[in-house]
Amino acid sequence: MNTNKIKSNKELTVYLSKDRINTRIKEIASELSENFSNDNPVIIGVLNGSFIFLADLVRLFNFDCDIDFVKANSYVGKESSGKVKLDKDVSIDIKNRRVILIEDIIDSGLTIEFLYEHILSLSPVDITIVALLSKKNNYKFNFNIDITGFEIGSDFVVGYGLDLNNKYRNLDSIYGLKEKN
Ligand code: IMP
Ligand code: MG
Repeated sequence: MNTNKIKSNKELTVYLSKDRINTRIKEIASELSENFSNDNPVIIGVLNGSFIFLADLVRLFNFDCDIDFVKANSYVGKESSGKVKLDKDVSIDIKNRRVILIEDIIDSGLTIEFLYEHILSLSPVDITIVALLSKKNNYKFNFNIDITGFEIGSDFVVGYGLDLNNKYRNLDSIYGLKEKN
């Protein structure tokens, strides 16, 4: 959906267009296709935000994979609560499998750090982290984000899976949000 039909007291401005997103997703898919051609990895999407990114990305892979999801939560409204909890764990046995962890956005890094440690404890061969967006100024940890779609500033963005209180996820581009005067 585009923004024409949205009833909201917020002003939405295009931050990353669907064309820019699609171009970058093709690049990410070819990079992963080179690295995982014979490895049958497990793709683990972080719900809810990654569902559209994951759906677009995995359909461009030219390798076999299994797909599962985890759900973690640290956000209330526009603020991180500072604590992460696991609402849904993986259901596939990932021991001795290669894992690709797909996240929508990394802000403080709390969520991805928690999930990385958790998935590591399940003894995969390795974990490749792919994030569509990252707010690089906001986080610091001692492992790599292997692939980032776009590095952005500290602005709060919605669309293409990303929400504000579960709204705006079905927009096909990524938008910045401002209160309307
Ligand atoms: P972190 O734990 O602070 O890195 O936050 C990560 C989670 O917060 C993401 O998975 C998103 O669900 C949410 N989040 C962070 N920044 C934004 C944003 O700008 N828009 C929408 N959701 C966000
Ligand atoms: Mg999320």
